[in-house]
Formats: sequence, structure tokens, C-alpha cells
Amino acid sequence: MPSLQLDGITKQFDRHTALHEVSLTVQDGEIFTLLGPSGCGKSTTLWSIAGLHQPDSGSIAFGDRVVFDHGRVNVEPEHRNCGVVFQSYAIWPHMSVAENVGYPLKLRKTPRAARERRVREVLELVELSRHAGRYPHELSGGQQQRVALARALAHPPDLLLLDEPFSNLDAKLRDRSRQWLKTLQSQVGVTTVFVTHDQDEALSVSDRVAVMDRGRVRQVGTPAEIYEHPADLFVADFVGTANILAATVVEADGTHAVLRVDGVAEPLKVPHTDRRLGPVRICVRPENIDIQRGADASHPRNTLTAKVDSQAYLGDHYRYTIRIGGTPVIVTTTRPAATGELTVSLPPEDIRVFHEEADSHEENHHAPVH
Ligand SMILES: Nc1ncnc2c1ncn2[C@@H]1O[C@H](COP(=O)(O)OP(=O)(O)O)[C@@H](O)[C@H]1O
Ligand SMILES: [Mg+2]
Repeated sequence: MPSLQLDGITKQFDRHTALHEVSLTVQDGEIFTLLGPSGCGKSTTLWSIAGLHQPDSGSIAFGDRVVFDHGRVNVEPEHRNCGVVFQSYAIWPHMSVAENVGYPLKLRKTPRAARERRVREVLELVELSRHAGRYPHELSGGQQQRVALARALAHPPDLLLLDEPFSNLDAKLRDRSRQWLKTLQSQVGVTTVFVTHDQDEALSVSDRVAVMDRGRVRQVGTPAEIYEHPADLFVADFVGTANILAATVVEADGTHAVLRVDGVAEPLKVPHTDRRLGPVRICVRPENIDIQRGADASHPRNTLTAKVDSQAYLGDHYRYTIRIGGTPVIVTTTRPAATGELTVSLPPEDIRVFHEEADSHEENHHAPVH
């Protein structure tokens, strides 16, 4: 049974619709991430799950327990048993680490001995046992965030809800915190909904990701599905670096399509099940473009000429900006390429084709899994 189910959640603020019919299913024990730009409705979704916002339609169930059904059921936040951690650390400055963590248990009138035992357990879990007697101002930002997490876990929650918990940390610490969270979550096994606007963070911590845009869910999938088979141009562009080129489908037989990229003489052939002809946009990731030193007869697939605009050495790889038919295209490679005119190859299986429609979906062989 799924751990969390949202069905048709709509939320209106004044006249602004923050969520349009959001439906999601989160499986037991998953780290499920809501990813999207600022203002797309991630926090509103999380707050609705926690019971801090009341949606205008739809229903929310934790397992087989309905906690919200518009007009019928609305379980109070304190009875939803969610552990919540926000971006701001929100721990009490006048309480020690142990008092902060034990506070939810005190509210629930847990006997002192049991409370102290549980506080020791969770502090060990977040590796703060040695700091139990300290006060928040004596801790680093990362440590304060671990106190907030320990407090959220103190009374074992049915759901852990994390709203951009690492955004205030510096890059190195953020990276360590992600790995640490993933290990911790797998030890505790608690179903977790994680909110971030940072695609690297989403790809690295999540079992599955929902990409959101202006109050709507665009795609749900594993990090690899989202990155390799984006459902639409928004997802392609938001998750990772996407080179997007205008092109025209000139032939399509239901298995392959022949495309002409604007301003490029050489045709491209790609696997494609859609038979429609006409304008499309294609997306290719920087690491999938093969830069060759001149023409290479042993590798004749989808080769076309390009010109190098600029290059940068980044330690473990090179980053080129090349021009294909006038459009700047980013290429990353571990081997340096020649400068000036180049022959590049776009492997057919790495080209995603999007028809130019409001609801365009990828129509390649590998349909995204929802
Ligand atoms: N309490 C509120 N009152 C009015 N508008 C709000 C409120 N909370 C959020 N919004 C609006 O709803 C939209 C979604 O916000 P939010 O869920 O906070 O986005 P995110 O967390 O993805 O950045 C935004 O346009 C935001 O301005
Ligand atoms: Mg937010």
C-alpha cells in the first residue's frame, strides 16, 4: 500500500491558483522529492500534507487513513504525525539540544525515563550525542539542522517532510548533508517527502522525483528516468543542462524520423514512433554529443559539422561551446577536441524529440514511466 496519496489537490490563494489538481503517490519507505523552480507550489504541497494549509479540493491519505477529504475530513496537524523540517532551523534558542529534541515527547507527556532514552537514541542517529548539553548558538548551521531533524524524528513520525532543509548550508556541507540524510533515512526507513529547487540535490537524494511547474506536476520518475527521458521541454530544460535546437521532421515511418536541424545541411535520423511531420524541438545533453577530430568513417551516425566558439578546462572535464546551425551548444568531454571546424556526432538514441504543442510529450521509444 502506498504510504501517501494525494488526489486532485487544488489550492487557491486569493485569485492565484498555487496548485492545480496535484495527484501523487508515494511508496512506503521512499525518499520522494518535489523539484521545481521557486513559486511552483512545492511548499504549498508539503504544507497541505502536514495539515498547515487546507486545500480547496481533493483528498490526502496516509496509507489507508484519510487525513483530508475536502468538505468531509480534515485531521488536525498535530494528529497527522508528520515530522517537519524547514529551511530555517526553527529550533528554540533558549533550550539545549537535548531539550529541543525531547520537546515533542514532553508535549505528548512521555514519561521522563522513556523520553531521555529516546533523546539519546535520536541524537546518536544524527551524530550529536556529544552536544546534548549545548545551546543552538554554540552549534554550526549544519549541526542546528541536524537538531531540527532529530526533533522531527523524536516521536517516530509516519511521514518525514523536509522543506529545503539544506538551502542555508554552504556547498560542501550541503553535499555531505545529502549523503548523510540518505543513509539516515535508509536506517530509519521512514517515508520522506523532500522539497528542493536544486536539481543536483533532487537527483542525488531521491528514489523518485516529481517535477513541478506553476502548480502542476509535469513528470514523476526515478532520477534516471527524469534526466534521460524528460516528458517535455520544461523538464528537459530544468533538470540538467539541455541543448535545445529547432528542427523539422521531414520523414517519419512510425519507427524512425528524419530531421533537419535549422541551418544544418546534414539530416539526423532518430528512433521515433510519432508519424507527424513538421516543426519540433530536439534536446541533447552536453555529455552525449561526441566531438571528433575531423570526420571519422568508423562512426558515421548523425554526423554534422560545427564550429568551436569557446572552451574551458574544468579539471576533470572540458566544456566546449560549439555552434550547430548558428545555435550555441554546450558539449562536455573528458578528452580535448580540436578547435575551429569540427565534425560532431549526435547518437540517435540520445536525441529527444518534442513536438511543438502545449502538451507536447516525448514520443521516442522509451516512454517516460509515470
Ligand atoms: N500564504 C500565501 N498567501 C498567498 N500566496 C501564497 C501563499 N503561500 C504561497 N503563495 C503563492 O503560491 C505559489 C506557490 O508557492 P510555494 O508553494 O511557496 O512555492 P515553492 O515552495 O515551490 O517556492 C507562489 O506563487 C506563492 O506566491
Ligand atoms: Mg518553498
